[in-house]
Amino acid sequence: PKTLRILVLPGDHVGPEIMAEALKVLDVVEQSRPDLRFQRDTDLVGGCSIDKHGVPVTDVVLEKALDSDAVLFGSIGGPEWAGAQPTPESGLLELRRKLNAFANLRPCEILVPSLVGASPIRPELVAGTKFIVVRENCGGAYFGEKREETDQASDLWVYSRSEVERLAQVSAAVARMLHASIAGGGDKSPKPVVWSADKANVLASGRLWRRATSDIFQREIPDVELRHQLADSMAMLMVKNPRQFNHSAIHTDNTFGDILSDISGGITGTLGVLPSASLAGVPGDGSCKGIYEPVHGSAPDISGKGLANPVAQILSVAMMLRYSFLLEEEAAAIEQAVIKVLDSKDNGGLAIRTGDLGGKARCSEQLGLPIPSSIEPLKVFAAYHS
Ligand code: NAD
Ligand code: IPM
Ligand code: MN
Repeated sequence: PKTLRILVLPGDHVGPEIMAEALKVLDVVEQSRPDLRFQRDTDLVGGCSIDKHGVPVTDVVLEKALDSDAVLFGSIGGPEWAGAQPTPESGLLELRRKLNAFANLRPCEILVPSLVGASPIRPELVAGTKFIVVRENCGGAYFGEKREETDQASDLWVYSRSEVERLAQVSAAVARMLHASIAGGGDKSPKPVVWSADKANVLASGRLWRRATSDIFQREIPDVELRHQLADSMAMLMVKNPRQFNHSAIHTDNTFGDILSDISGGITGTLGVLPSASLAGVPGDGSCKGIYEPVHGSAPDISGKGLANPVAQILSVAMMLRYSFLLEEEAAAIEQAVIKVLDSKDNGGLAIRTGDLGGKARCSEQLGLPIPSSIEPLKVFAAYHS
C-alpha cells in the first residue's frame, strides 16, 4: 500500500485525550482503504517536551516534521509552565516556521442546525453560519524581532509584500472553494468574496497589507471580489451578523487572525468544534504539507476528566486528508459522520455531545467508537450503538 507518514504531536493537557479519539477515526479510514497506510510516529511537543528535554520542540522533532507528509498536532501549554523560557507555545511557532506553514485555515461553521442552541447569538442570526478565516501564520508581530527587559518590551510587527501576496492567493483559493460549494440561487454572490481585515488606519504594516492585497487582487485575481474591513470592526460584525461573511474567506494577519478565530468560538459557543490547517502551499494546487491542529488550547481547566470535545481534533484529521493527502471523499465522510453524531435528529432526540455543547457525553464517547469496518457515516453511527 501507499504509505503516508504522519508525525503525531499530542502535546499537553487535553491534547492527548482528544488525539486518542482522532486517531481512532484515522484507523477507520485506514481500514476502509487497504491501498493506504497511515504510518504514525508520535513525539513530544510543548510543556511535556520541556520537562523531558528542556526545550518545547527538539531538533529531532523538527526534522521529523520536515520528513513527514503531515503533522497532526494536539494542544500545548498550561499553568505548570508559567514563566518557563522558552515557553511551550514557542514550540508550535517554531514548528509553523520550520514547515513554512504560512496559511492557517480556520473554518467557522454551525455544523448542525440544532447546534444553534450552543451559541450565545440568537438562532435566527447565527443559523447556517459558514466562513473560513485565513490567517497569516509565519510573520507579523509573532515573528518580528523581540526585546524583553524588566520594564520595557517590544515586538516588531513586520510584513513584506510577498508574504501578503502568497496569503492572498490562498484566501482567493479558499473563497473559490466555498463559492463553488454553494448550490445556485438565492444568496449566491456573483463572484467568490474575500474580506481583508487590517488596521490600515493605524499601522504601517496594515497599510502595506492593504496595498499589497489590493494590488495582487487587481493584477492576478480578477475573478474574486475583494472587500476591505478594519479588523476591529470586523470583530464586531462577526458577532453582530456572522452570516454576512458566509462562503467567504477572511484574509488577515497573524495577530488579528488569532483573535478573530477565537471569536469564531464565541459564534459556535465553544472552541471544541473548530479545526484548523496550517498549510505550506495553496489548497487546490495539489497536495501540500501542513500542521493540523484545533483552534483551541490545552484547556487545563477541564483536562484529565474526559470532558474535552474531540470534534475539533477529529475535523482537523479531515482537513489533513483533504489538503495533504487529497482524500476528499474520506475527509467529507468524516465531516458527515461528525454531523450525524452531533445531530439529535439522527439520535432519537438525543445527540451525542460533550458538555461544552450542552450534552453529557464523555470525550471518548463522541465518535470514540468501537472501530467499525467502514467510514460510511451511517455505519459509523450504527457502530456507535452496537
Ligand atoms: P483554551 O483554548 O485552552 O481554553 C479556553 C476555554 O475553552 C476553556 O474554558 C476550555 O475548557 C474550553 N475548551 C477548549 N478546548 C475545548 C474542548 N476541546 N472541549 C471543550 N472545551 C474546550 O485557552 P486558554 O485556557 O486561554 O489556554 C490554555 C493554554 O493553551 C495556554 O497555555 C495557551 O497558551 C495554550 N494554547 C495552545 C494552543 C495550541 O496548542 N494550539 C492554542 C491556544 C492556546
Ligand atoms: C493558536 C494559539 C497559538 C497562537 C499559541 C499557542 C502560540 O493561540 O493556535 O491560536 O497564538 O497562534
Ligand atoms: Mn489562538
